[in-house]
Amino acid sequence: MAARGEFSSRMAFVLAASGSAIGLGNIWGFPIKVASNGGGAFVFTYVVLTFLLAYPILMAELVIGRHAKSDTVASLVKISSRKSRPLAFLTGYWGILTASLILGFYAIVAGWMIAFGLASAADLIGANAQSEWLTGFSLNRNLTFVAVFYLLTIGIVANGVTAGIEKWSTRLMPMLIVLILALIAYIGTQNGAAEGWRVYLQPDFSRVLNPDLLISALGQAFFSLSLGVGTMMVYGSYISKSENLPKLGATVAAIDIGIAFMAGLLVIPAMYVAQANGVTIYNESGALIDSDGLIFTVLPALFETMGGTGIVVSLLFFILMTIAAITSSISMLEVPVAHAQESLGLARKKAAWVVGLVIMAVSVVIVFNFGVLFGWVIDLTTKYSEPLIGILFCVFAGWIWKRNELLQELQQGKPDVENSFFWKVWPAYVKVVCPLIVLMVFMHSFGLLNV
Ligand code: TRP
Repeated sequence: MAARGEFSSRMAFVLAASGSAIGLGNIWGFPIKVASNGGGAFVFTYVVLTFLLAYPILMAELVIGRHAKSDTVASLVKISSRKSRPLAFLTGYWGILTASLILGFYAIVAGWMIAFGLASAADLIGANAQSEWLTGFSLNRNLTFVAVFYLLTIGIVANGVTAGIEKWSTRLMPMLIVLILALIAYIGTQNGAAEGWRVYLQPDFSRVLNPDLLISALGQAFFSLSLGVGTMMVYGSYISKSENLPKLGATVAAIDIGIAFMAGLLVIPAMYVAQANGVTIYNESGALIDSDGLIFTVLPALFETMGGTGIVVSLLFFILMTIAAITSSISMLEVPVAHAQESLGLARKKAAWVVGLVIMAVSVVIVFNFGVLFGWVIDLTTKYSEPLIGILFCVFAGWIWKRNELLQELQQGKPDVENSFFWKVWPAYVKVVCPLIVLMVFMHSFGLLNV
């Protein structure tokens, strides 16, 4: 078998893993959830859950992955005893299925980003009819850009870890950050922005334990860090043994929260600016009129206030969003592709194309049944599958894997880890506390636990 891929440097891993974490979840998904769940209360709960739950589980994935240096199914099998092997298969394949379904809906939204980017280019040359088609919600438009997005994603994954994933993740993420900061500064000059920031930053603590809010924040915490399907486990398997894992994980988590927070600082005020300019965003009962389309309504409204420059800014924004989406989608596709390559023995390129096209068929089915399937697949995968699989990963790291092997793995790259705060807290924490928190959130959201 050919040698496995490995990230060529620490920076390369951090950028690739941040590239995976930062995506539509941060800039499209997070603001929608904030706006639908009363602003600051959601932000607060999401941040708390990320620290309490997502970071520890991220570490479980990274350490299992780097130890086993295999695809997810094989990794879980490697740390299992004979008795727990069936659970390893179940967890691994459930993760592969979930990653594939997530890519199934993600590619649709990513396609919208490409279409909106091209629409700005069309505006620039005065091609109004084309621009209208690109921004209108039609079957053909959706199908076209789903296909385009898959070609890009598959093309990168087919080239493997260094030449594909790493190369593209390192280049353009920094640009996205600069552009978002510039837009935040601009929106501060607009009418209505201050109200948006107040709603965003002042949590109404009485809503923090609202069952819908909690389960939605739980899902967001997992989704945003790309947890609970094996993405971070596979990326972990490409990390060199000389790296300090707890620190790498903390860096990625901090960058991801930072970007989501910034996206909120941009999109939530943009909603209020749009409202001040006469765009209707909430209906009479206070629900978002078009939640999936939120940023496709409020950001273009913002760009319009900039006059001619707005078209260029819009073009840039949607290009960068497309890139952010690609650095995430490649990490989803990597989960089934690594398995097809390493456990089933397909060549890299063939694995990427076969698996990629099969998942594209899933997207096509969703596009044809958009009203029924889109929201359902999102809820099924992000609110339920990811947290449940995340807990299974905790069970592997905390209960199934031999503790001394776990310690030895962490000692590679951090020889004194045994005396660190991390080692004093984390093992027992993933073993007991993480599963309990997820269980409590689930029970609470099903009305079984009243607090
Ligand atoms: N975290 C990415 C985002 O916020 C999406 C993502 C990439 C993902 N890989 C994943 C989500 C694996 C769940 C599982 O957009």
